[in-house]
Amino acid sequence: MEIIFTSDELTEVARLKAQYPEPKAAIMPVLWMAQKKFGWLSEDVMKYVGEVMNLPHSHVLGVATFYTMYFKKPMGKYHVQVCTNVSCMLRGGEALYDHVSRTYGIRHNETTSDGLISLEEVECMGACGGAPMIAINETFHENVTASHVDSLLAALH
Ligand code: FES
Repeated sequence: MEIIFTSDELTEVARLKAQYPEPKAAIMPVLWMAQKKFGWLSEDVMKYVGEVMNLPHSHVLGVATFYTMYFKKPMGKYHVQVCTNVSCMLRGGEALYDHVSRTYGIRHNETTSDGLISLEEVECMGACGGAPMIAINETFHENVTASHVDSLLAALH
């Protein structure tokens, strides 16, 4: 895929920049846009974002590296995040993580060989009231059980 935003996407970049007193503060949503479009933030994607944002590559790299929500390597089409922080851990989050890991033969930040599923063990995602929770891409699922996870993931195949 060519690393380039469409004119609509560039309009969105301009709109985001205009929302901040300092346009460079829009780097985070623009990196997010780039990740959604290109799947992950390769060196080439980060260089392109730097050009679009008129920011040095070192700045883009620094932001992308600091925040774990930005993928620095290819991830699966479906990125499964399992929270094992305190509230979720107390309600079976670690067992859920182990279950997904065993089922797909992948561990933290690994992807199945078909590129479909990647797994990440995450800290609190702010949905403790529904512990244990997982997220599949941007959709949260709360009060999940192993069999619930199995049916959610089976539906992705
Ligand atoms: S501890 Fe899991 S969402 Fe907060």
